[in-house]
Amino acid sequence: MTVITNIEDLRVLHEKRAPRMFYDYADSGSWTEGTYRANESEFAKIKFRQRVAMNMDNRSIASTMLGEPVAMPVALSPVGMTGMQYADGEILAARAAKEFGVPFCLSTMSICSMEEVAKHTNHPFWFQLYVMRDKQFVSSLIERAKAAKCSALVVTLDLQILGQRHKDLKNGLSAPPKPTLGNLINLLTKPSWCLGMLQTKNRQFGNIVGHVKGVDDMSSLGAWTASQFDPTLDWDEVAQIKKQWGGKLILKGILDPEDAKLAVAIGADAIIVSNHGGRQLDGAPATIEALPAIVDAVGSQVEIWLDSGIRSGQDVIKALALGATGTMIGRSYIYGLGAMGQAGVSKSLEIIAKELDLTMAFCGLKDVRRVSRDILFPGSY
Ligand code: GLV
Repeated sequence: MTVITNIEDLRVLHEKRAPRMFYDYADSGSWTEGTYRANESEFAKIKFRQRVAMNMDNRSIASTMLGEPVAMPVALSPVGMTGMQYADGEILAARAAKEFGVPFCLSTMSICSMEEVAKHTNHPFWFQLYVMRDKQFVSSLIERAKAAKCSALVVTLDLQILGQRHKDLKNGLSAPPKPTLGNLINLLTKPSWCLGMLQTKNRQFGNIVGHVKGVDDMSSLGAWTASQFDPTLDWDEVAQIKKQWGGKLILKGILDPEDAKLAVAIGADAIIVSNHGGRQLDGAPATIEALPAIVDAVGSQVEIWLDSGIRSGQDVIKALALGATGTMIGRSYIYGLGAMGQAGVSKSLEIIAKELDLTMAFCGLKDVRRVSRDILFPGSY
């Protein structure tokens, strides 16, 4: 068995174990995938400033997010169809996050419902909301999130229309997969995935199926999104959502300082600088490029977290050095989950924590909360 030492090892194992359409769903970006690639390559351009002989004993990667202690400033991003990468995936990821001491965020488009996750983890998690045309359903999702004791609501602002992802269209992505010849042939090569799926009841979009009139199964994510997600979403509606929710509010999908100011004006507790992992507007900047202007605009007023492209603890510390107060990972933990379930998510967190800690040591930084641009090599950012 391969010795797993980095996130790429987990990606390779995920690709082997999961059906093609779900691996592709997680791994791809929209259109040319230019933004998807830039998210990673722009991180790679930033260099560190090595320091030596600075007594690097007793380091700490612990921090806070929304005022709550976290083992490291890395939360698990909401990811659709997580329970299709590995049976009961959302429950397993939430458990791994709880054990490690980092927040878990459940997607509206999850396979396990929020009630299932709450029942099986017994620990608060964040709920991510997509705004649908059916306002009664949106309102019921918010009430259900309160009843499930979710500790924050994450409203995603950048997916009221779906970016075109070529592989998903070609694969005919659906949950559960349709019994086409191509799918059946692919599933024959994934016995351990199939066995897991046969042992769970969670095989459809748990927050939606059975909760919306007329939606009994969801053949195509793309078609459903096109018909249900509400392109009329505006800041007034975000304000109404905030009022109904009444708790901590996180706004996800901010890439521009003007939008960041509007998010602050509405009273967001945190904003997530995100381009949806390069899955929406291809040609948008990498998040690490967009971050500094947003920090300049609103950094003193709100927590700013960054996601999209984080594949290592080095990426985490680069984002923090440029002014983020926290980070979020999507694919990095999904690869672990798809590879080996809960143990894989734990492994991805351990890998990132170790990379973060060692990089801090090389840069002469003992406490992650004291990070600044001082750890970056001048001219490389
Ligand atoms: C979100 O649900 C996505 O598919 O990117």
